[in-house]
Amino acid sequence: MKRKPLIAANWKMNKGIGESLDYFLKFKDKNIDYSQVDVLIAPPYISLYPMYKEIKANKSPIFLSSQNIYMKDEGAYTGEISAAMVKSCGATYTILGHSERREYFNETDEIVNMKLKKAISAELNIILCVGERDIEREAGVAYEVVLSQLGKSLMGVTEEEIERIAIAYEPVWAIGTGKTASSEDAEAMHNEIRKKIEILYNKTIGESIRILYGGSVKPENIRELMQKENIDGALVGGASLDVEKFCKIATFYA
Ligand code: PGA
Repeated sequence: MKRKPLIAANWKMNKGIGESLDYFLKFKDKNIDYSQVDVLIAPPYISLYPMYKEIKANKSPIFLSSQNIYMKDEGAYTGEISAAMVKSCGATYTILGHSERREYFNETDEIVNMKLKKAISAELNIILCVGERDIEREAGVAYEVVLSQLGKSLMGVTEEEIERIAIAYEPVWAIGTGKTASSEDAEAMHNEIRKKIEILYNKTIGESIRILYGGSVKPENIRELMQKENIDGALVGGASLDVEKFCKIATFYA
């Protein structure tokens, strides 16, 4: 089955509203064949609605995503934002379980699972991040760690609901470090993830789910990664902050 690639920009805590809009206005004029690739941008929350208005005004096919949501609908949770609020900004996706959330904000698989269910009930699509740390890879438990994160994060998610989810395999040691997993190692992990999805759900779902790679993706390594059978796209941090670099990554097929 042919899975449409998804190239996603995770801006993390970078760019104010003005910079976000400047970026979009430059990016929208790039020659990208959207029949070949889906492109998504996850700016900070503040830029979601301003970007949504520009995307709409320009009839751009770019998908908008938040980088996180909180696992409650509303209430006394100072500084947090709900799935419905993100949706009301015009976003159709949220990233969940990014390793920076897990590491700096103590997000466990259980929390990721609660957030995932809130995102689903708000009809958001999800990029669910999983990935092992360097000590775990060195100890030879990378597969166990990643597959366990996957199983726990997806607990209780139905066959119908999983259609809203793309998985991002992001080895923690490759994020922002300039070190990329070799395309062979990434492919091997993606293959394991797909097999696990087939076991948890079924073969059709396993074959159709998109599995992105993330961790120091750049114009120089995207083609090799995308040649692999089970790599269906990329979640790009640092290199996505630059319009030209992100455009080169999004046009990997050219
Ligand atoms: P990076 O980040 O491309 O800067 O390594 C990827 C990510 O954290 O999503």
